[in-house]
Order: sequence, then structure tokens, then C-alpha cells
Amino acid sequence: MKKKLIVLFLFLIPLMPVITMADEGMWLPILLQRNEKDMQKKGMKITAKDIYDANHSSLKDAIMLFGSGCTGEFISNQGLVLTNHHCGYYQIVSHSTVENDYLTNGFWARNKNEEIPCKGLTVTLLVYMKDVSNEVLNGVTNNMTESQRQQIINGNIKAITKQATENNGYIATIKPIYYGNQYMMYVSQVFKDVRLVGAPPSNIGKFGGDTDNWMWPRHTGDFSMFRVYANKNNEPAEYSKDNVPYIPKKTLKISLKDKKEGDFTFVFGYPGHTQQFLTSYAVEQIADVYDPAIIKIRTAILDVYNKAMNETPAQRLRYASTVATIANGWKKWQGEVKGLNRLDAVGQKQEFEKEFTIWVNKKKDRQEEYGGLLDAFEDIYKKLSYYKTEYLYISEAGLASDMTKQAIDILNLIEISRSDTTSEEKVKQQANKILESLNKYYSYDYGTHKQVDKKIFMETMKIFYNDYGKSKYAFLREKIDRDYKGNSEKYFEYIYDNTFLTNEKKARKILSKYKKSKVDKLIDDPICEIMSPIWGQYKKEDRENLLINDDKLDSLYRVYVGAIMQMEKEKDFYPDANLTLRVTYGNIKGFKARDAVNYEYYTTLEGIMQKEDSNIYDYVVEKKLKDLYNKKDYGRYQNSKGQMPVAFIATNHTTGGNSGSPVLDGEGNLIGVNFDRNWEGTMSDIIYDKEVCRNISLDIRYCLFIIDKFAGAKNLIDEMDIVE
Ligand code: ARG
Ligand code: GLU
Repeated sequence: MKKKLIVLFLFLIPLMPVITMADEGMWLPILLQRNEKDMQKKGMKITAKDIYDANHSSLKDAIMLFGSGCTGEFISNQGLVLTNHHCGYYQIVSHSTVENDYLTNGFWARNKNEEIPCKGLTVTLLVYMKDVSNEVLNGVTNNMTESQRQQIINGNIKAITKQATENNGYIATIKPIYYGNQYMMYVSQVFKDVRLVGAPPSNIGKFGGDTDNWMWPRHTGDFSMFRVYANKNNEPAEYSKDNVPYIPKKTLKISLKDKKEGDFTFVFGYPGHTQQFLTSYAVEQIADVYDPAIIKIRTAILDVYNKAMNETPAQRLRYASTVATIANGWKKWQGEVKGLNRLDAVGQKQEFEKEFTIWVNKKKDRQEEYGGLLDAFEDIYKKLSYYKTEYLYISEAGLASDMTKQAIDILNLIEISRSDTTSEEKVKQQANKILESLNKYYSYDYGTHKQVDKKIFMETMKIFYNDYGKSKYAFLREKIDRDYKGNSEKYFEYIYDNTFLTNEKKARKILSKYKKSKVDKLIDDPICEIMSPIWGQYKKEDRENLLINDDKLDSLYRVYVGAIMQMEKEKDFYPDANLTLRVTYGNIKGFKARDAVNYEYYTTLEGIMQKEDSNIYDYVVEKKLKDLYNKKDYGRYQNSKGQMPVAFIATNHTTGGNSGSPVLDGEGNLIGVNFDRNWEGTMSDIIYDKEVCRNISLDIRYCLFIIDKFAGAKNLIDEMDIVE
């Protein structure tokens, strides 16, 4: 039976009838006609074509993929981009020094000459998208093996993208949707000259910090601004001082109008990753095993970094970006586990799988095609859990410290040193490369960093060993029992203190004169003694098995999802998020969080004053903002009640990547910037619950108030197209 499953075939999904939809869904702009009526019924005044039109300018021309994981939008015809503070965070931090601390104090370019080029930052604008399922699957038949199938698909993709990018400077990517039942092509322009224009101080842009992160009610002024530059022909170009501000085909109008509960909104952006079709086996592993393990490891890491960050401003800057990333997932997964359990997601999935089985068993040919599917899933998930758990403990705990990350490079050096086919020259080059990266690691107060890094190593290795390594690696257990009487911490401390990696002098000596014959010096190092076998096994066999099983899963999901779409013919499906442009829509709405707790739909500056705590970095409110508050100097940005609105929530179905996405009203005007979800709703990547799932947006009026009244950057306000 299982063999049958590997023999695959494709379904071209028929056009679905329009039916009323829930708030769930991340819709393909190219097929938005299907949602148009529903959107208009909910309050949209514009048309699907106003949102996406390949031939005329439409809202899509104002939207971009910002960097590689956020969204941004044009808010002036001089290429001015609005996105989140946390999306520009890395850039803001990397241009900051203790003397010129833009992270803490904010940054405002008073004219274009003061804007700061951001090397490596790109923005990607979609020119058009196209359903290329028929072309990609051309030549694929039902009785091919998976690898034959993949070969044909890869060949087709190469040819199609080549044709789409010939002589036009575009890039084209083709991505599967519905696990390869269909394929979409995205043809885009990539702009490489992007400059930092403005960012509020951290106590506005990240107000509430990681404590408030993922939470409602929220008071974060989470925005920053950049500008896209182009060559004289308005085309993408490498950075040059001769470049000029890009003139977008479309810029968003900004609306200062009041919002009411129930008002229609939509979000247009680049959601990254959702998994709505997961089977019960997968959801169970996430909720019971993977999420809890990562949360535990990251709790230990964050404890160390947070303490260090509170010690000195220099350390705050050094770890800010790393910690923001680690803390973000850590907190989200906690919400996810709670949500999955509260909804009994596993039970719901099992219920669905029962229905699916009944549907399958109704017909003989279905039985033949899909009869073994669920068993096959169960089987693969069981196998995978071995490899996934290994990967999780190695990547999250084993490689948490900077020292162990460097050790991986040393292991690679050992490997090539032992190989007959690698030249002495190559080996030398590699050693020099490692030395270069070690230079960064040793530079700038290494003594202090070493203490922090050692703590990270000690804490993570403790978890690694007790929760995983002790039972998995006999060599390690025996060594610790024999030489350290079972005291693993002593052993790990010995490693950290004695590896040459934490001894700058020794490291330079070994690496600067390194040649193949000296490989034993590396092999005998204490860190290699432990990492070699662990990394060796993972790299040699286990990683391969992880990938093979993941591929098998994808194939199974292709069949499964194809079958579900047949089974639920009436339902309008949307493909899982895959970091491509999507529209999601809903209404501004509060929610009931738990017994007797009802949340309103917007927050105000009043709430910032209530949260103020001058002793906590993330809750400091600056005098300037307080003065504006005391004088109620809100100008045209206040709401009809005279309040300064800060953030609001709505039922739009969003996920990571939607950060920075414009939140638009029924007329297509910009009313907010998406930046988060509520903690109660973070399981929506797997299972959506319209009662509690909410996206959190910055009210555009607070954003403009900060730019105008707080920072006095009238130059930027003047560029914008504001409707009152
Ligand atoms: N939770 C938001 C997102 O997923 C914002 C993260 C940045 N903020 C923070 N406090 N770490 O990206
Ligand atoms: N902050 C997230 C991001 O960076 C958006 C929040 C979410 O996951 O919905 O994209």
C-alpha cells in the first residue's frame, strides 16, 4: 500500500465557488476576485483589481518584501518606506555605538544626505505573479518515482524562470503551493541601495520590550523608515552616491480618520510560514515535545543574556539583536502550546482524520489511492522524531555559545586536513578564514564576553546532557562517569577553560601556522573530543535522513491535501503562507481572552503613562513625550475623543513576515502597520480560532505623531499623502 503512495499524481484544483468565508485565510492576490464579493460585503469599497493588477498600477506596487523576512510599503513618491522598528532593528543596532546610540536615542535624517546606507539590505518588489502549474508539471506522470518527478519539475522550473528573466533585470522564483499540487511564479525587482531614514528611540519603538511582546494590550511604537534608491532610470542599482530616490508606481495614502469596532481592514504583505494541514501526529509532537524543549533551552540562554545586558550599555548593544530573536520565538511558542492545548488541536485533527477515513472508505478507488496515507504519516513522524530531536538539541543547545559555533569550523578544518584530495593551500586558506572570524570574536572586550559566553555554554550543555546527551551518547556518559564521577558540569567547565578557542594567543599560534600535519593539535583539543563524534554522526548520516524523511512527508502531504480538496469541494482553500505576497482581511475587533477578561480594540498614550517605569529600560518614557502628553499636544493626530491612539487589533489572519505590512481600510488607505499577534492567538499558524486570533497594529496616527511632534521631522511628513 505504502508503495502506492509514493507513486504520485497530480490534481489540478478546479475553480472554487465563492462562499462566505471566516476571517481565516491568506489569499493569493492574483485570485482575489474570488474574495471580492465577500470583502465588499464586509466593508471594502475598492475592487480586487485595485489591490492587484499585473497591467496597471495597483496597491501591490506599494508593497515590498523588506530584507528577507518582513514587509514594507511606500508612503511617499520619493521611495520612502515604512516598516517596523523590529524589522529595521538589526540595521539600527549595527549603526549604533555607545557614543552614537541610535538604538537608545533614535535616529532622524534631517535631509537626504544624512540618510545611512545599509549594506546588505534589499527590498524586493513584485512585478507580477503567475500560475505556472501546467508548465511546471508538464511531463510529470502518475507512475513516476519521486526523484524522476523532481527532476522533471526542476528542469521545467529552470526553463520557465530563464524565459521570464531574459534581458529585463528581473528575478523569478517558482514556489509550490498545496505541497506541489500547484506552482506559482513570482517575477520581481530587487533594490540594493536602501538607506536608514528614521527610527524612534527604543523606549518608543520597542516600548514594553520582550515583556509586552506578543501581548495585548500593547503600546509599542514599532516603526522605522528607510528610503529606496535607484539609478537615473529608476531601476535597481548597487549603492552609489549618484543614485536617486526611487519613484514607486504606487504610494499609499494615509488616513487619519477615526476607526470603529467592526470596521473592515485588510493586510497586504509577506506572511512567512503556516501549516494548516498538519496531521494529528505532527501537532502532538510540536505541542508535547519540540516546543517545550526549545522553550526550556531558550529560557536558560535568555537568563544569562538578560543579566549581562542589564550590566552595561555596551553589553546591551552587543546582545540586543541576538536576544530579540531568541526571545521572540521563545515567547511565541509558549503561546502556541497553550493555544493548541486549549483548542485540543490534536483532538480536532483526529476528528478530522476520522472523517477523512470515512470519506476514503466510501469508494474503492479512493481506498486504493489514500487508504494507507494516515498510517504512512504516523510511521514517518515516528521515524522523524529521532532525527528532529537530535537536530533540536544540537542546534539550540549544543551550538548556543559562540565558542561551539566556532568549533564547527574547526571540525571542518579537521575533515579537509585528513582528506588526500584537499591541497595544503586550501587547508591554509581555511585556517586563515577561521582566524579572521575569530578576530571578530576576540575583538572588543573579549574578557567580558568570554564570561557571558561561558555561562551560555555551561547552562545549555547542562540541558543538552541531562535531557538528551546522557542517554544518547555512550562515549560521553562513560567519560563523565569515569573521569568526573558523574559531575558533568566539571567536565564542561574543563572543556571551556582549556579549548584553544578561548585562548586567543594559543588560537593564533595554532591557526596562523597551520598545515595538514598538525591536525592532531585540533583533534586533541577538548572541544573537538566531544563535538567530533556528536557532529560527525549528525552530519554524516542523520542530517541526510532528516532531509529524506522530510521530503517523504512533503510527498505524502501533496497527496493528502489533494484528497482533502476533493473531499471538501465546497470550501475555498488558501495555500499555506510561504513568504509570498498575500491578502488577509477582517474587522477591527476586541476579544475575550479568558473568563471575565474582555479586551478593547485600541490602546492610547494614557496606557503608556500607566506602564511607565523609569527604572526599566523598556518602560522609560522620555520627558519630551510626557510633555506632549501633559499638554495633550496631539494636533491632527488625536481621535475624536481627544485621545492619542497607539495600537489596535483586528481579526486579520497574519503570521511572521507580516511585520511591517500595511493595514488598510475599506478605501485602501493606510491606517496602521502590522507588527504582532496576541499571545492567545499564536497557534493560528497551525489552527485558527476566530474568537481569539487577532493581529496587532500600530495606529498610523501614533506613528505620524512621533515623527511630527516628538521628533520634529516635518520633512518626512511633507512627503506623505495624508487624507483627513
Ligand atoms: N513578536 C513580533 C514578531 O514576531 C515582534 C518581535 C520584536 N520584538 C521583540 N520584543 N522581540 O516579530
Ligand atoms: N512580529 C512578527 C513579524 O516579524 C509578526 C507577528 C506574527 O507572527 O504574526 O513578522
